[in-house]
Amino acid sequence: MLKTLIIKIILKLTIYQFNRIPQLIFKYDSWNCVPFIQRKYAVDIVRYLKQNKDMESVIDIGCGTGDIIRRLPFKKKYGYDKHINVIRGLHFFSFFLNKGPPIITNQFNFSVDKLTGKYDAIIIIDFTQNIEPTILKETINYYFKNNLRKNGVIITDTFYNDPDRKYSHDIINLIKYKHTIDEISNTDNGRVKVYSIKKI
Ligand SMILES: C[S@@+](CC[C@H](N)C(=O)[O-])C[C@H]1O[C@@H](n2cnc3c(N)ncnc32)[C@H](O)[C@@H]1O
Repeated sequence: MLKTLIIKIILKLTIYQFNRIPQLIFKYDSWNCVPFIQRKYAVDIVRYLKQNKDMESVIDIGCGTGDIIRRLPFKKKYGYDKHINVIRGLHFFSFFLNKGPPIITNQFNFSVDKLTGKYDAIIIIDFTQNIEPTILKETINYYFKNNLRKNGVIITDTFYNDPDRKYSHDIINLIKYKHTIDEISNTDNGRVKVYSIKKI
């Protein structure tokens, strides 16, 4: 307990403060300053996707400053986000920390814009709490059918009756096409679960 507290304080005094500088320059949400290693779900996603050596392309929708996608050693990397300012932050951090090729970025609204291209992994994480469930279901199914390669995965999160989050999402019946599901992370005392949904 004491050890965890000390680590948190050290992170706050070091990485968090470093992250504040680009946040103030590019003027994006301060949430993006929370260090990667303090976000278990993000660490788990990176660990999980790194094991899938056959995958070549990954797109992270709602990528923020790119904490996840910058750490993935894929051949083709795409980082899309609704806010141009976090995309600017992503490019700043990519200068110091980006494994693999440059990340192709785009200003993109999950609820509105149409996704093109096909990918081995599609990440949709930590913003779906603000997406209305029927829109989420419709959009994820569209991606699953049209934008995901065979044996590819969609990584996404669900929330159950969480007072801090606007909408709840359920993994059961989310995808209407043939698939398998793996739970790859579990945070906030089980209130948030992260799944890998594989196209078979
Ligand atoms: C809490 S941050 C999470 C960033 C990243 N996914 C992560 O987990 O490290 C949420 C991000 O989703 C983006 N976002 C929110 N709604 C979105 C939407 N409808 N379409 C695309 N991006 C969105 C925000 O701009 C923000 O950068």
